[in-house]
Amino acid sequence: MELSSKAKFAIAILVTAIVVGGVVGGITYAVLVTPEEKLDALEIYHWWTSGGEKAAVDALVDVFIAEYPDVAVIQSPVSGGAGFTMLGVIKSLVLAGEAPDAFQMHAGYEGYPYYDANLLEKIDHLWTDELKAVIPDVVESMNMFGGHYYSMPVNIHRNNIVWYSTKLLDDNNIKVDDLTTWTKFFDACDTLKTAGVKYPISMGTTWTAAHAFEQIAASMGIDFYEDWINGKITSATDEDLLDALGIFETYLGYVNPDHADLTWDAATSMIINNESAFNIMGDWANGEFGPAVANYTFGVEYDTFAVPGTADMYSLTIDCFQHPKNVAHPKNSDRWLEVVASKAGQDAFNPIKGSISARTDADLTKYGAYQKSAVDDFKKVTYMYPSIVHGSGAPEAFKVKLSDIISAFVEDKDAEEAAKDITDYTKEIIDEYTVIWDLA
Ligand code: GAL
Repeated sequence: MELSSKAKFAIAILVTAIVVGGVVGGITYAVLVTPEEKLDALEIYHWWTSGGEKAAVDALVDVFIAEYPDVAVIQSPVSGGAGFTMLGVIKSLVLAGEAPDAFQMHAGYEGYPYYDANLLEKIDHLWTDELKAVIPDVVESMNMFGGHYYSMPVNIHRNNIVWYSTKLLDDNNIKVDDLTTWTKFFDACDTLKTAGVKYPISMGTTWTAAHAFEQIAASMGIDFYEDWINGKITSATDEDLLDALGIFETYLGYVNPDHADLTWDAATSMIINNESAFNIMGDWANGEFGPAVANYTFGVEYDTFAVPGTADMYSLTIDCFQHPKNVAHPKNSDRWLEVVASKAGQDAFNPIKGSISARTDADLTKYGAYQKSAVDDFKKVTYMYPSIVHGSGAPEAFKVKLSDIISAFVEDKDAEEAAKDITDYTKEIIDEYTVIWDLA
């Protein structure tokens, strides 16, 4: 658990008061100053623990503190990218009636288990007309269940990005404009290998493999991806599914062998250190390249291109918060959601985080070159698709299972087995596919 300086200050006062009360004023004074009475707090859970992520959430908390200086903000970060670790922790807390005032969650499917169990407050009153007017429809709809609003988006991340070392590509005369197909991409990997770059592609722990695979699956085309997240890919001999696994197998041939031991940001650091040339990751990676960590300049030491075959697509990850039922500080929960939704909050958080604002009226002068290009792409791409690995596109059980199946595939490279496991599981939980996505 991390305390903001305001929280530390408030708790320091509190401890002093109790001690003083015990010594000077006796029992009466101490009873008057219990933590519950004195400490007006907001407790939030999230998984933003990398350098860039932490700097970003601290900036958002600072906006809250500036507005509510008397509220102590208690951040409870649970490390583990993409929330895989925090999901288990938060579920137990919420089910035990111990929900924090708000917690990080992905928009879309990830909220259903809480909504279905009646554990979330409706927040229609916070979705004002002014807010609805500046939130893109695709984002708005992913924060609604059963016709009502239950979560508040803070950003829009893009997942189908290859981050690369300009030095390694320049040194080897590789032009990114050519890297539009997997064949050309793997040719570039061969060139790098021949030149002595042992592992042209960097990869991290389990979910980062599933993240890369998801983007390869999207490169099979929007129709395939739409069918996949609508639970319609149920044949173990589906050609696109087998092709995607085949491409992923080739991809794994260029990856660092210690991937299982690396966090996502450690894998991104391999690009920062010019150990590897390419890393498929969402644009939270920009937070590691940027001023909060490496302080590199976009277009100089690092740059990006769309995952081959997905240039006119934008894979969406949307982080949000909500108001769980029966929280300790309901008023502060709503206040937090208002700050999360606000222009000031989003323009403090997103320039550091790497995401673009979920609001169309963001002050772009506050954003860096990468995000300006992402805003342009967001406006001009033909297709948007919600991420499975980042909780939005498919039932949560499928997200977890996919990560396990892909982890096994990374070890045994058995495409037939992986295709069977993926499609069998889809059939097993078909009733949980309650959203019909229309992406094409
Ligand atoms: C995503 C999340 C991002 C980023 C990333 C790595 O799921 O939406 O905000 O934090 O995980 O932790």
